[in-house]
Amino acid sequence: MQGFDKNTPRESFGSQIGVIAAAAGSAVGLGNIWRFPYVAGENGGGAFLLTYLAFVLLIGVPAMLSEFVVGRKAQRNPVGAFRRLAPGSAWPAVGFIGVAAAFTILAFYTTVAGWTLEYLYLTIFDKLDHLQKKDLENTFTTFVASGWRPVMWQVVFMLLTGFIVFKGVKNGIERSTKIMMPLLLLIIIALGIRSMTLPGAAEGLKFLFRPDFSKINAGVMLQALGQAFFSLSIGMGTLITYGSYIRKSENLGKTAISVSLADTAIAILAGLAIFPAVFAFKITPEAGPSLVFITLPMIFDQMAGGVIFELVFFILLAIAALTSTISVLEVAVAYFGEELSMGRKKATVLSTIAITILGICTTLSMGPMPELSIAGLSLFDLLDKTSANVLLPLGGLCIVLFVGWKLKPEAVIGEINNEGTLRARLAPLFMFIVKFLAPVAIALVFLNGLGLFGFFGGGDL
Ligand code: PHE
Repeated sequence: MQGFDKNTPRESFGSQIGVIAAAAGSAVGLGNIWRFPYVAGENGGGAFLLTYLAFVLLIGVPAMLSEFVVGRKAQRNPVGAFRRLAPGSAWPAVGFIGVAAAFTILAFYTTVAGWTLEYLYLTIFDKLDHLQKKDLENTFTTFVASGWRPVMWQVVFMLLTGFIVFKGVKNGIERSTKIMMPLLLLIIIALGIRSMTLPGAAEGLKFLFRPDFSKINAGVMLQALGQAFFSLSIGMGTLITYGSYIRKSENLGKTAISVSLADTAIAILAGLAIFPAVFAFKITPEAGPSLVFITLPMIFDQMAGGVIFELVFFILLAIAALTSTISVLEVAVAYFGEELSMGRKKATVLSTIAITILGICTTLSMGPMPELSIAGLSLFDLLDKTSANVLLPLGGLCIVLFVGWKLKPEAVIGEINNEGTLRARLAPLFMFIVKFLAPVAIALVFLNGLGLFGFFGGGDL
């Protein structure tokens, strides 16, 4: 099959390990280490975790597999995939929403990714040492609102992302994630052990694992669903795009299960690294988005050998973010490269520039340019909430409906069992979920959650 560039074959991942590293790299990101702990903290800990796990298992894994099926079957970017599998229909709109989501997600995601580089810098130059809570809050809020500095780090981050994507699927994405992902795992395990061996850590474990069911309501359920989609990278075509690079001999079902397990394990490990420490130092877990930037430095400062752990933690965050940003950028690049016949290099340069511009506006909306806000939410908050809680569930819903109702069941099963060469015992269960259970569950949680909060009401979404 022809690639993005004329006369070259379409690229694919070179090995099973490469596929898992790349897809788990996409899934594991700020969503696990920055977003999961603070959303869990704000939504009651254990009760949230349980709801989240149920959604990952019942909806997340089948939705991920659906994206792989669409991508590998069509061998195309998200827009081209729907065009190829459902010519002349309105389905390619789902792909377009995905490309749009690539822009909105990267715009705020690289803002936060940029913060991790600033904190790396602050740690290396001892600038967080011995600061009181107030000073740490000050450092964070002044930095975030300062304009040029966060913008600079964001641009650096986008350039790193663009550089890897520019080099292509095998030499860029696969090669870099195969190095970064094992490193990430080592770091998070070390941090978890350190945190859990602190005196008083048990309270944190209770908070994370002891569910208080009275805390579950429609809002918590939507947050858990949105978090599951965001964390697994579902609903915007990232996994359609990566799926299109998976060779026909790989086992898609196994891949979806391994990637989801890895993602969930890392989110729980992040919770284990953060909450015991939060409780050990008697800090409240509901700090919100600033949890890892204010609360954690405070903890590291009081901990023996804290600077080392702090350094390692921000390296972890930066790596996790980078393996995700490349997967989001790849969606836009695959679309421009293939559908508009630009080739990879031109598509990478153009999308990197366009996304950087939107990203800069997002970063500025948090400080010097508060007028960049809509309905009382800064551009940053708006993009964060609408991406995770609106665009991704909506995209996910369309994708499972497409696989459940539009594609022929034989074609779907054929893609899952590699045309009869694998056993794929769970395929009938999968078909039932994507036809009935997942669409109904997503629609219910989505409508319920939106109704409870009002669409843009108050930033609670
Ligand atoms: N899954 C990534 C994370 O957890 C974010 C992401 C969302 C990446 C959607 C790709 C698509 O950080």
